[in-house]
Amino acid sequence: MEIADHLELLGVTLSADLNFGRFIHSKAQVVSVDGCKIKLNDGNEIPNFAFGTYSLKTPTQSIGRAIEAGYRLIDTAALYANEEEIGKGIRDVIERGIVTRAELFISGKLPNSNHSKEQVIPALKLSLRKLGLEYLDMYLIHTPMATTGEGENICLDYVETWREMETAQKLGLARSIGVSNFNSKQINRILTLCDIPPAVNEIEVNPTYPNLALVAFCKVNNIAVMAYSPFGYMVPRRIDLEDFSPPRFDDPYLVKLANKYGKKTSQIAMRYLIDRNLIPIPRSDNPTHIQENIDVYDFKLTTKEISTINTYDINTKVYEFGFLRNNVFYSFYQS
Ligand SMILES: NC(=O)c1ccc[n+]([C@@H]2O[C@H](COP(=O)([O-])OP(=O)(O)OC[C@H]3O[C@@H](n4cnc5c(N)ncnc54)[C@H](OP(=O)(O)O)[C@@H]3O)[C@@H](O)[C@H]2O)c1
Repeated sequence: MEIADHLELLGVTLSADLNFGRFIHSKAQVVSVDGCKIKLNDGNEIPNFAFGTYSLKTPTQSIGRAIEAGYRLIDTAALYANEEEIGKGIRDVIERGIVTRAELFISGKLPNSNHSKEQVIPALKLSLRKLGLEYLDMYLIHTPMATTGEGENICLDYVETWREMETAQKLGLARSIGVSNFNSKQINRILTLCDIPPAVNEIEVNPTYPNLALVAFCKVNNIAVMAYSPFGYMVPRRIDLEDFSPPRFDDPYLVKLANKYGKKTSQIAMRYLIDRNLIPIPRSDNPTHIQENIDVYDFKLTTKEISTINTYDINTKVYEFGFLRNNVFYSFYQS
């Protein structure tokens, strides 16, 4: 089934005009894309391409290279334990006059161990201090699964956490607020019980985990999707896959597309996400990869090509957060 068919099932029709990156949806509640930015449900705009910062080997230098290459959205998290280095990289490029703070879109995440009402604002302020920023453009609940500081699972309803996220936005500490790793049922509870809908859900989406149902749910609810681990199992991962040999960068169909568009297969993977109106978050310390990954705005995949890549689904996430599996709010049991 093609992606357009999936959207049709949900009552959404999609048409693309001839300008790259511009899409028009027939229903007002669907996220609209204009050029390289996506309009969020709170009226703010988010760049449609991000730089990932988890486990960067040289965070300060890599952030500098990324911003020089054109990345404007930086995906950070307290959990990644590199906010100071990231902040230094951001300050360096601003001091060198490459960008202003206003041109950047810095996103952060609330750790699982800080979900209680009293902890949310202090955790956000701590991230701001480490990053050396006065505000975040986006603050996300990293996962719906709360833990103690020692990582023990606790039963703490993310709805309570979300109400404090709403306070953070009202205080101007975060201009937009959202969630990460939430399933559709959990988002529905927030939509039903709270005042402000999440602007973003950051979830795993890549050629080997297309996540069609959850992406479609977010779209119809006007929630933008940031796509983490955008290369899926196309790049080597720590987890061995015994039952699958997923397509790698030398996959014949991806090579055929790369030759057709005069691009690399890694760039086909990025465009696959952009052309689904998602926001890829590639991570790299390699200067050539940093450049290449964002050099994808001079071509566009067809609906048929996107559908073919969707068939690479091996229904296996790169990040399953197995250590949180016993949490009452473990989210990956359903889309
Ligand atoms: N919200 C969440 O719970 C969550 C979970 C996971 C990830 N994330 C976010 O998503 C970001 C990306 O996910 P990820 O860290 O799993 O990584 P990813 O971007 O899917 O893959 C990174 C790996 O791909 C390699 N790579 C990058 N570009 C390449 C290219 N053009 N050709 C060949 N290899 C390439 C990198 O190596 P080189 O350095 O050598 O290029 C690195 O080994 C994270 O950094 C984080 O910001 C969020």
